[in-house]
Amino acid sequence: MCLLKVEVSENKKEYQIHINNKEISLLKDIVCETLKDNNYIVVISKKVHSLYGKILNFPKERTFILKDGEKEKNFKNYEKIMDFALRCKLKRNDAIIAIGGGVVGDISGFVASTYMRGIKYIQIPTTLLACTDSSVGGKTAINTKYGKNLIGAFYQPDEVFINVNFLKTLDKRQYNSGLGEVLKYAFIEKSCQCEEPINLMNFLSENYTKVLNKDTLTLLELIKMCVKLKISVVNKDEKENGLRRILNYGHTYAHALETFTNYRKYTHGECVAYGILFAINLAYTLGKIDKEYKFLCEDILSKYGYTEMPKYDKNKIISIMDEDKKSTHKGIHYILADSYASVQEEMLTTEQIKVLTGI
Ligand SMILES: NC(=O)c1ccc[n+]([C@@H]2O[C@H](COP(=O)([O-])OP(=O)(O)OC[C@H]3O[C@@H](n4cnc5c(N)ncnc54)[C@H](O)[C@@H]3O)[C@@H](O)[C@H]2O)c1
Repeated sequence: MCLLKVEVSENKKEYQIHINNKEISLLKDIVCETLKDNNYIVVISKKVHSLYGKILNFPKERTFILKDGEKEKNFKNYEKIMDFALRCKLKRNDAIIAIGGGVVGDISGFVASTYMRGIKYIQIPTTLLACTDSSVGGKTAINTKYGKNLIGAFYQPDEVFINVNFLKTLDKRQYNSGLGEVLKYAFIEKSCQCEEPINLMNFLSENYTKVLNKDTLTLLELIKMCVKLKISVVNKDEKENGLRRILNYGHTYAHALETFTNYRKYTHGECVAYGILFAINLAYTLGKIDKEYKFLCEDILSKYGYTEMPKYDKNKIISIMDEDKKSTHKGIHYILADSYASVQEEMLTTEQIKVLTGI
């Protein structure tokens, strides 16, 4: 069992992250103990509910089941969850418990941030992506037809319970998708300014069979490493005024690809991995990294199944990047590799990106 603490500097909020492989049947009592006598609602992914609803045993009348898929992170469901919370008479001391992947976590967190100007929320992530990334750090959001995560808030959870036993039922594709964000942490590690060295790139190279086989101890270690890196960044820059932008490594291309393919063809983590491949090529063409490092990154990505970029009209994808919230009138804040496990921000216009990618 591992217990990590987030101490966000701006609003002084502290919360704990529990990482373990306890019996899932114990979760309800553990969570309710932290809530004391306060009321709550549970927002749970439909699939996770079908797999774990009985074992979790939260009361039916307090459970909102959210259909699965990126498309569900929308205004309509935001309103439905709000209505449900109102019907359940949640008050300002009460809480929302989010059980599922990043979609459930993001939309529930956004509801929590705005319900009566903000109530508690607890994250119980059940995908690798949510365990290693989205459940920690307080980015909450919904998508609109204009793009991904355009409406949202920085709103920290009150507690995060990561239980690796959930990952046993995650299919190979969703598991590999989570590895997209995990790989991101490996490539940005030094820039995360973590006090202790983590060496995630080595860990991923040396343990890839165990990682791919979901070995429990390896997973506990892997999640701990990623969460430590994320905490290190979020504690220094909660609201993405500077350092936190490095967590967007691979995401400029990823969000454009997700929008271009209407959120249907690829998962978020897959798009991030492709975005990293795209960024590696940009950094190499700009002369920021040498061939050796480019090959090293590509080799690790390929160990986890990310060998080739999808073949889409680059011109169109690059044009969509301009609509991302990370773009300004001057250009796009692009995160690029500059040395081993290190990245830096570069302002690039879409015209420059087109030239650099040979369009
Ligand atoms: N807030 C943040 O900081 C942050 C960071 C990264 C990504 N995100 C967001 O996270 C979302 C992606 O999250 P995701 O990859 O977890 O996808 P997801 O939430 O869509 O879940 C993926 C699929 O896995 C299924 N699933 C979940 N847990 C399962 C389990 N234990 N066993 C079997 N199936 C299970 C779900 O039902 C779903 O079909 C995106 O919307 C992305 O924008 C947010």
